[in-house]
Amino acid sequence: MIDGSTKLYGIIGNPVRHSLSPVMHNAAFQELGMNGVYVPMQTEDGKGAVTALKLLGFQGASVTIPHKEAVMDALDEVDPVAQKIGAVNTLLFRKDPDSQHIISRGFNTDWLGSNLALSKYLALEQSKFLILGAGGAAKAVAFGLVEAGAEVFITNRTAEKGENLAAWLGCKFLEISQVDTVRVDAFINTSSVGMEPNAHLSPIDASLLSDFSVVMDIVYAPLKTRLLKEATAAGCKTIDGLAMLLYQGAAQFKIWTGKQPSLPVMRAAMEKALKKRSDLK
Ligand code: ATR
Repeated sequence: MIDGSTKLYGIIGNPVRHSLSPVMHNAAFQELGMNGVYVPMQTEDGKGAVTALKLLGFQGASVTIPHKEAVMDALDEVDPVAQKIGAVNTLLFRKDPDSQHIISRGFNTDWLGSNLALSKYLALEQSKFLILGAGGAAKAVAFGLVEAGAEVFITNRTAEKGENLAAWLGCKFLEISQVDTVRVDAFINTSSVGMEPNAHLSPIDASLLSDFSVVMDIVYAPLKTRLLKEATAAGCKTIDGLAMLLYQGAAQFKIWTGKQPSLPVMRAAMEKALKKRSDLK
């Protein structure tokens, strides 16, 4: 029931129509009996949106593509880890007790999301990872793993982008043709290969999968990607694309409310929304 005391949260991005964050966070508010609401807000102006949310009394927000870097200039404070990554996915608005002014602060929980998902299966600091991709998602995943003390290899279709990311992280780059020259514990796909409408594709040759003990995909439409199906058949443990989303979302919720939301409740809400979408097709 939305009323005069409902606390406001949401996601800014472009596009945001397909974001699962609203169902995930609203399920958590409902389960905890909290008077909060989380709405999708499509905008071309990330910086302007930060000012607008502050003026409108929002408590917090998620930030997604393409605004994760741009919003940083509009914030009063940026968490040191988000500063290091160069991207913010979480905004918190709080009242300064002395000045009574609203202070906006940016965080990054994306890297926490993948670390938490992977640490269910592997001791990160003792493990080796091969990451495919060199975009924003790869940056967050790889940053988290390096931060945790893992050994990380990057591979990417465009070598230059992959080399730049590897140099920034201080880890090694491998050409796609060289990935079978290293032995790693886990393979992580951060590219969009295998996403609908190209669900028949996989980013890596199935014959290489039996070398990994864990395979993680950040693609969640479909939830069981060709990569994950082939990894299961090869005897690997698999982590699907909802896992990172779930753990980064739970970390956001904690930043906003101080409360630990129910992971199964949040996940079930997202699975239901995905199923509804595929049933409608
Ligand atoms: P995000 O910020 O969401 O990670 P992105 O910056 O577009 O998205 O990055 C997408 C990544 O997926 C890139 O590493 C991209 O490879 P390139 O650097 O060569 O563009 C990778 N990618 C996307 N489509 C791909 C495909 N069909 N085959 C191989 N890699 C692909």
